[in-house]
Amino acid sequence: MDLKPPHRFYITTPIYYVNDVPHIGHAYTTIAADILSRFNRLRGREVFFLTGTDEHGQKVEKAAREKGRSPKGHADIMVENFMSLWKKLNISNDAFIRTTDTEHVKTVQGIIQLLWDKGEIEKRTYTGWYCTPDERFWTEKEVVQGSCPECGRLVEQIEEENYFFLMSKYQERLVQHIQDNSGYILPETRKNEVLGFLRSNELGDLCITRPKTRLSWGVEIPFDRDFVTYVWFDALLNYFSATRYLVPAAGQAGSGDFWWPADHHLVGKDILTTHAVYWSTMLMALGFPLPGNIFAHGWWTVDGKKMSKSLGNVVNPGDMADKYGVDAFRYFLFREVTFGLDGDFSETALMNRVNTDLANDLGNLLSRFLAMAERYFGGEIEVPSGNTTELNPFARDCVHAMIPAVDDTHYAHWSNLRFNIILDHIWNIIRTGNNHIAQKEPWKLARTDINELKVVMFNIWNALRLSAVSLYPFMPDTAEKMWKQLGLRSLVDETKQSLPATSWDTNEYPKIYEWDWMPGYEIRVSKGEQLFPRIEMKKKAQPGKDEKPPLAPSEKEGTGGFESGNLITINDFAKIQLKIGKVLSAERVQGSNKLIKLQVDTGENRQVVAGIGKSYAPEDLIGKRIVVVTNLQPAKLMGVESRGMLLAATDDSGEPVILVPERDVKEGAGIR
Ligand code: MSP
Repeated sequence: MDLKPPHRFYITTPIYYVNDVPHIGHAYTTIAADILSRFNRLRGREVFFLTGTDEHGQKVEKAAREKGRSPKGHADIMVENFMSLWKKLNISNDAFIRTTDTEHVKTVQGIIQLLWDKGEIEKRTYTGWYCTPDERFWTEKEVVQGSCPECGRLVEQIEEENYFFLMSKYQERLVQHIQDNSGYILPETRKNEVLGFLRSNELGDLCITRPKTRLSWGVEIPFDRDFVTYVWFDALLNYFSATRYLVPAAGQAGSGDFWWPADHHLVGKDILTTHAVYWSTMLMALGFPLPGNIFAHGWWTVDGKKMSKSLGNVVNPGDMADKYGVDAFRYFLFREVTFGLDGDFSETALMNRVNTDLANDLGNLLSRFLAMAERYFGGEIEVPSGNTTELNPFARDCVHAMIPAVDDTHYAHWSNLRFNIILDHIWNIIRTGNNHIAQKEPWKLARTDINELKVVMFNIWNALRLSAVSLYPFMPDTAEKMWKQLGLRSLVDETKQSLPATSWDTNEYPKIYEWDWMPGYEIRVSKGEQLFPRIEMKKKAQPGKDEKPPLAPSEKEGTGGFESGNLITINDFAKIQLKIGKVLSAERVQGSNKLIKLQVDTGENRQVVAGIGKSYAPEDLIGKRIVVVTNLQPAKLMGVESRGMLLAATDDSGEPVILVPERDVKEGAGIR
């Protein structure tokens, strides 16, 4: 068999049963495969990303019957749910396989014939305990006092003829293969579980057919028309059959359409055995090469509970994407939990991630940078003269963390699917970027050292640019938007254009990952829409405390559509004393880059501490007339007393903007 050359990358998801609608578990694996596909495409590899649906077998037949549909008719309807969800979640699959595709059915029949001819299959009589309502066999051990362990009804002993794949003879070879190829099953703990199982249990042979008298919805066995294949035998073969008819230029003479074996089969932990044992031994029997890796991820619980229809807590990925945005949802799934471990999903955790990582860290860095670039340089980014990395610790950090030619640690995590660590690296740069602004105080440099300001701005621009390329696989839309706001044209096209011609001989990355990459055209940043507005989190009502008092009937009327519980009376407002104050002096509070201590004249001298240090330099504040709440109870902020609060609005990027009177008013003037 001619094999896939190394510049091709083939990745699969499980094919999903069409007996139900897609949930977060389906979305999880599919997004993971999308992330890896996008990363590899950016690296210049040809990618074949396959997903699809598993449409045969008892589960689907039963679900169709309950709906009064034919199995195929049912599948045709249900498959749409998956296809439209993948579109919504921005999944870039290259093909979608359905096990009812004629070409797939033919491949399955060809393969079962091949195995039969090779003597890898035997017909045997099988005796087992059968639960007629559930339509399934149980072993002697599983049966509970003569009853079905699932539904509790009586089971009967049935003798049935079936075809068996002689799996047991591959046990030793399989153990050897797993031991010799450390990345074959990942994560490591799952590999050890499979090895432990194989070392301490004798592998049986696998029953791969069902008599048509019991199940007719399956692929007919070519050498015995009374039987159809067991659904897993048919399903696992999708990974191979797709390479016969769904790959690019399939079947065209000279197209070199070799795509086997897969680099990764991504699966959930519950279906690891079928892949690691059934599928691997099937391939051994066929004499086909084994895949590079089978990766088993963990399961999501929801608010600490198992996800189930009966609990009514099944997470609909489409709803989450509508509510919080596709990229925020994609980001959350891979940042929150290590890929491979179980994790808990909650909307509160998702909102926290959006507010802290996306709005505060990433969104803030970008919008502050863009605002400053516009303010100081009319949006132009210039490459400063001299070496910007040697002298500058921030730039050096970025180079070391993100440039593959300098340090490959970040990129090495891609081969082990350590998505959350990759994201962590990117976030280190983003956070360091925010600190860099606070330390360098560009607003001061604008007055004192334009050259240094250019260096700072260029370095931040570059850090944001590198973050965008690295984030692209996770958040493709966001990355493209960042790219455009940074004054560049197309992240994907420009990355591809920057690939060295020799990349596959030398294993090089696109030049775009280098610090000194420039697009060769004038860069003018453009502040676009805010990427991640903060989400207002609803406070949970504490009984007896936060509960609103019942409204008096008169309050219910004339509120102009506002919830009357939120309105205050003029008397309430009169309790707040607002005055014009003049800033006499200002300095930073030690140890904080946010807090500034102000001495303000509001008719009397008072000290006010304000969280405006990221947007204002202290010296810019001196002499300003501001609005101060003067009858606020004194409070201590980082140990410094504050008597009053200045008023500020919040702009699009979440930055405070101080309120000032429209023309000069004397300090101490009251505000009504
Ligand atoms: N049809 C088989 C797979 C055949 S592959 C040759 C199948 N289909 S399924 O529709 O049941 O898919 C289930 C997938 O979703 C599995 O990978 C499973 O691990 C995953 N999940 C189901 N519930 C899950 C969670 N609560 N959390 C994460 N993934 C979960 O199995």
